[in-house]
Order: sequence, then structure tokens, then C-alpha cells
Amino acid sequence: MSEPKVNGLRGAELAVYDLNASVDFYLKNWGLSEVGRSADRVYLRATGDEHHVITLHERPKAGLLAVNMAAQDSATVDGLHAKTKAMGVEIVSAPAALAAEAGGGYGFELRTPEGHLIRISSDVARHRDVIADPTRPIKANHIVFNSPDIDNQMQFFLDMLGFKFSDFSGHMHFIRCSRNHHAVAIAKANGAGLNHIAFEMKDFDSLMRGVGRMRVAEEEIGWGVGRHAGPGRNIFSYFVDPNGFAIEYTAEVDQAGDDYVSRREDYWQSVPIRPCAWAGAKMLPTPRMRDAMSGKLINERNINCDDAISEKMAG
Ligand SMILES: [Fe+2]
Repeated sequence: MSEPKVNGLRGAELAVYDLNASVDFYLKNWGLSEVGRSADRVYLRATGDEHHVITLHERPKAGLLAVNMAAQDSATVDGLHAKTKAMGVEIVSAPAALAAEAGGGYGFELRTPEGHLIRISSDVARHRDVIADPTRPIKANHIVFNSPDIDNQMQFFLDMLGFKFSDFSGHMHFIRCSRNHHAVAIAKANGAGLNHIAFEMKDFDSLMRGVGRMRVAEEEIGWGVGRHAGPGRNIFSYFVDPNGFAIEYTAEVDQAGDDYVSRREDYWQSVPIRPCAWAGAKMLPTPRMRDAMSGKLINERNINCDDAISEKMAG
């Protein structure tokens, strides 16, 4: 058997302060749909056939709880589990049947060297009905981690989960597990955390219609609308969710086959109009968007929560 590998990004699980307010935002403004719910969590789908792309859990502190990735079949899940376990990776749960409310399937959980929980699964139920609404996201396209140690973090995904190197911009490693140019990227940062989650829109028109819905809801664009002049060359528009997470609508991400020519910073930094192909260096994230991408927004609010909790206990 060839090396077992992950072959897709399913989505992410987020801890949020106010479940109802967050669900409201993701349904009405962002364009997802509710597909299941239990006491403290809600599963949200996009228009594609993936069972859910986001799970929101109500918790006292916001944060990334897990990233869901796909494997082709149960034998691949078992293969990835055996391999990562043998290589000394922290296994959080052994392969087993997954919760029916989350679409079932078979999977296991591991922790990356920087502490991110990754659930790798196969045979999760898929929707037969694809929602015919081009103004809404189709699926999760990529997730970007912040890391003080990007080379080692990338190597973990390449060596343990079978990802392939796509590009290095000088600031970020972009890696893929399918033809999509990057399912994961790892950005240079002072601390480990979540940078952003991107949702795929059908095309430029769809992306603009999603942006329009967000603007009508009085959500401020944090960066964009633009086209990255760097790796992936995708169209983007970034926003900040009610918890402080950075989220992106994206379209027209490069597709990369086995013949894809990877490039490094010497190439990408010579692209004349960085960082955005439409407005050059004039188009930059807002300060608030930067704070969301660095994790600062969430950290500050979580620290305030700590204060409130300790004051309550002291009082
Ligand atoms: Fe992105």
C-alpha cells in the first residue's frame, strides 16, 4: 500500500462565546445552513455535499477546537493512525465510529506539535441535495495556522499526513492534499494559533454577492476585495466574525496537479504588484483584521473573561 494520506479539508470546530449570536451570524450573514444541533453545539453546512463545514461549540473562551480532514476510506484512516502513532505523534483518540449527529463515519484524532487537534475521517455522510444558491459558500477551502516554527509545522503535515509542498511566499508555507493549491498554509508568527479559515465561492460574481450580503448586514470588509499576487493567486475578501475569528470568502484558487512547479520567496517577492494584484501595496488588511489574523482579538477578549471569572470568584 502506498503511504496513507489526507485528501481533503472538511472544516473546523470553533469555541464561541455566544452560540446563538454566532449561529445567527453564520446563517444570515455568512450564508451557511444549520444541519444539526445538540445541547452545546451546532453543525453548519455549506451548499456542497460535505456534511458540515463548521461546528460551533458554546464555551467560556473562544478558540479553534479542531480541524476536520478527510481520508479516502477506513483503511486509510487506520493507516494514518498506525503511522502517526508509530512516529510518536500524540494520538487523542483511536479510530472509532464517529457521532451520528456529526454525520457519522470513522476517524481518529491527533495533535500537531503545536497543539492543534486534527480529526481525520472517512465515510462521513454526504448531502444528496446540493443547495442551488451561488451567493453562498460551497465548502471550506483552506485553513491557515500561525506558527513561530513554520518549517517544522509544515514538515509535520508533509511527513505525517501526506501533504505536498505548493509554495513558500517568504512569510507563509502553502501545502496541498488535493488539486486545490493549498488546504493548509502556515504563517510566520510569534505564537501558535489560527490565522483564518477560507470558504470557497463558485466564482468572482458569487464572491461579490456574498460580500454584498455581508455589507448589507453592516459587516465591515477587513481586507479586499482583491486578488492575491502571491501563491494560490485567489480572489479574496476577509471579515471578522463576532468572536474575533478571521474568515475569508475565496474564489479562483489555483489548481495544482503533479506537474505543479513550486516556487519560493525569490520568485514570489519579485512579483511586481504585491501583496494584491489589483491595488498593489495600497490594499492592506485593516488594523482590526490584522488583530483577528494574529489571534490578538480573541486572546484579549479571553483574558478579559479570565479577569471577570476571577473577580467573580474573589467576590
Ligand atoms: Fe486565505
